[in-house]
Amino acid sequence: MDLEKLKQQFIEDIAKVQDEHSLADIETKFLGRKGELTEILKSLAGLTLEKKKVMGPKANNLRDWMSEKIADCKFQIADLKWQKIAKSEKQDINTPTLHYPLSTIHYPNGHLHPLSNFIFKIERVFEEMGFEVVDSYDIETDYYNFTALNIPPDHPTRDTQDTFYIKKINQANNKSKSDEFLLKTQTSSMQVRYMKNHEPPIKIIVPGKCFRRDDDATHSPQFHQFEGLVVDKDLTMGHLKETLSLVMRKLLGEETKIRFRSSFFPFVEPGLEVDVTCPFCKGQGCNVCKKTGWIEMLGAGMVHPNVLREGGIDPEIYSGFAFGTGIERLAMMKHKIPNIKLLYENDLRFLNQF
Ligand code: DAH
Repeated sequence: MDLEKLKQQFIEDIAKVQDEHSLADIETKFLGRKGELTEILKSLAGLTLEKKKVMGPKANNLRDWMSEKIADCKFQIADLKWQKIAKSEKQDINTPTLHYPLSTIHYPNGHLHPLSNFIFKIERVFEEMGFEVVDSYDIETDYYNFTALNIPPDHPTRDTQDTFYIKKINQANNKSKSDEFLLKTQTSSMQVRYMKNHEPPIKIIVPGKCFRRDDDATHSPQFHQFEGLVVDKDLTMGHLKETLSLVMRKLLGEETKIRFRSSFFPFVEPGLEVDVTCPFCKGQGCNVCKKTGWIEMLGAGMVHPNVLREGGIDPEIYSGFAFGTGIERLAMMKHKIPNIKLLYENDLRFLNQF
């Protein structure tokens, strides 16, 4: 009943394992119903109490140790096998998850990226309030991104939203016509596009990618925004305030409050900066909110009559409100993420925290 010898034998045998069949043989040899260690465990019953106290734990420990080694080995065999298959096959990422051949092995499921998750959450919150989710274009015309929003060429607001311009080539003489297309800088670009094609009442939310010449800890050249636009008869700032207050409570926590500060955006009048209570200190004042208890979160306002007119809507009959913000900014506040780059690097040590 030499456990040490048995352990040595096991180590030698498992070192020679080639595939799941030879591993299964070893499992039977040592741990099967008539396995060598199983026999020893059975024979413990006939020992004196003193001897049982010494041998029992030793034999049980050896059984646990062997089981663990066998499980590790199964894992390695399966992994090698699938690495081989993965190398030899073209992968179709649309096929259902592959099942590993050894049923005891479970690979963890993946999950949505925190940013995708947050976008879905935003959409759900607005959908519950009767908003329609509308897609936006990554490549937009200068007209919808700027001019239609009361931002004519040479307006200083364009300086804060520099982006890639795409030249339109005149097929006849191969010369560029104008810088008509660009990578959109704001989801507000959907406002007039949508108004031109839809009658009020309008109640939409537009999530989408935006692009700007910005790059630091809180800005990235490519980022996401969502835009809200509501157009109907008799809309007031009260409707805007109630809508945003409800949404921010749902996204950042029930205790969240909002406040308005007057500001300027060419496509709204009056224009507003919307602050939310700092989620880090709950409004008490901390380093993040520079001791004010508030964090600047959205731009908003009542839709400018020029913009309604541009969308084919009579400002004498209808009014509207609009709001927009960066989705990364919201997610960073919600999850206390210090650097925007963490959201794009796909480092599992970061992603697995969500
Ligand atoms: N589009 C603005 C930006 O990117 C944000 C914004 C401000 C959207 C005011 C709005 C608004 O709808 O009313 O800075």
